[in-house]
Amino acid sequence: MYKMSLMPLFTAEAIQEMVQLLGEKIARNYKFDTIVGLLTGSFVFVSDLCRHFPDPKIKVLFIKASSYGDSTESSGKLDVSLAKDLDISGKKVLLVDDILDTGLTLQGMVKFLQEKGAAEVRSCVLLEKRARRKADIKADFVGFSIEDGFVVGYGLDCAGEYRTMPDIWTLEPET
Ligand code: PRP
Repeated sequence: MYKMSLMPLFTAEAIQEMVQLLGEKIARNYKFDTIVGLLTGSFVFVSDLCRHFPDPKIKVLFIKASSYGDSTESSGKLDVSLAKDLDISGKKVLLVDDILDTGLTLQGMVKFLQEKGAAEVRSCVLLEKRARRKADIKADFVGFSIEDGFVVGYGLDCAGEYRTMPDIWTLEPET
């Protein structure tokens, strides 16, 4: 069993500041036409981030990538769904996820989008965890970087719970 840390790891205010900085940095450095968000975790981040891009023609698509099930450990097996009608042929894609942990999801999804015909794929994550990387991949744009820890809130879940909280919290094992 897990309990929430006493204080948020990142407050809602700190997250909004970071999302604004990140959005402005991406807008300066990458002219893209399509955002692809990975459900479910990125739904909050995408909705905040996309409002910092001045180009009104940018499209927003979501597909589902799942690797954890109800566990706190990645299963390593990537399950992609809701992508049957995904049309990104020739598009310049910004792939957005909430967290980069082992990297297996981001690596798998970059490959998936390239195979679907994307002209270019660059990636953005709100939070990267450095300790447990298995795939040789870096996100092109990163908000926060932490060593390790099980984090929830702002879209991040534990067995589907905690996603709606505006702050990001660490879950700690109950002693
Ligand atoms: C989480 C998170 C990332 C992925 C990162 O998704 O949203 O997509 O894990 O982990 P990795 O770097 O070890 O691959 P999850 O499979 O839990 O699905 P969810 O988005 O529905 O929470």
